[in-house]
Amino acid sequence: MKSLENADVSGKTVLMRVDFNVFPVRPHELRIEKIVPTIEYLLSKKAKVILLTHIEENDGRIPSSKILLPYLKKSLPMNEVRLFENLRKFPGEKKNSLKFAKYLASLGDIYVNEAFPVSHREHASIVLLPKFLPSYIGFRFEEEIKNLSKVFNPRHPATLVLGGGKVETKLPILRKLLPKFDHVLLGGVLLNLFILGREPLFSKKLVLPSQVVASGKKVLDVGPESFSEWGRIIKNSKFIVWNGPLGYLEKGHVRGTKKLISILSKAKAQVIIGGGDTLACLPSGKKLPKNIFVSTGGGAMLEYLVHKTLPGIKALDKK
Ligand code: 3PG
Repeated sequence: MKSLENADVSGKTVLMRVDFNVFPVRPHELRIEKIVPTIEYLLSKKAKVILLTHIEENDGRIPSSKILLPYLKKSLPMNEVRLFENLRKFPGEKKNSLKFAKYLASLGDIYVNEAFPVSHREHASIVLLPKFLPSYIGFRFEEEIKNLSKVFNPRHPATLVLGGGKVETKLPILRKLLPKFDHVLLGGVLLNLFILGREPLFSKKLVLPSQVVASGKKVLDVGPESFSEWGRIIKNSKFIVWNGPLGYLEKGHVRGTKKLISILSKAKAQVIIGGGDTLACLPSGKKLPKNIFVSTGGGAMLEYLVHKTLPGIKALDKK
């Protein structure tokens, strides 16, 4: 992979793949703020920048990328930067079409992947576009890799907190990451599976909350009493990785997630937090302690931790 530092971008048009898949956009949006330095660097080197992103609402609607402009104008010099239409408005993006990748390549001279959160997808702008242009990895993407690779050799005791949705992907990920950790605290859909007995507790490392907020047979959140045992585990940990909210945020069950954020903010351990929805619960604009790295990735973070690479990284490696 070639670092952007080694690119001669002066006078060139740079197609920069970003991931602004944030809806609704909040002030101090991490996925936007973290790539501002890369854009500023390119502009300082007299490059022209075209941003390529996708946005897809939870119900599958694909809005125009124009909805992002009012927010981007607050963080970026948008008179010098152009924003391409939402990539998912073009069927070729998700179909990973060669023709669409070639068309995108015709719009610029250089490609930069600064879209870590979507680099687990085999989509045209991620895996095919780099075949047609000199391609580089963005500064933020490099930072993600540097921090996340610490998980491959964690300090012990190491604790994984796994919440969020998408059970079909989370269970295999849990099984693969389990050997690296001493404790796994469970929330979200996985917690439902284990509490309802649909899945046996297959390891002593799995720690269910001692109290839950439930409605009928559905667990909606981790209850406050759970944090005395969980708090002890966290306090004794030297390394903590957390991905996915503990409760059903969309139904307003944010208390467990917020409580965990406040406990982690005081932890002495090295902490890595990720997951698109979890990010929305972090205190907006407030600086977190230095021992906490917040990944912009959700699914991409977990895929990277399991496979130690991503399709988007492989595509740059082949160059
Ligand atoms: C994300 O928000 O996790 C990424 O942008 C990937 O989005 P997707 O799950 O719709 O591909």
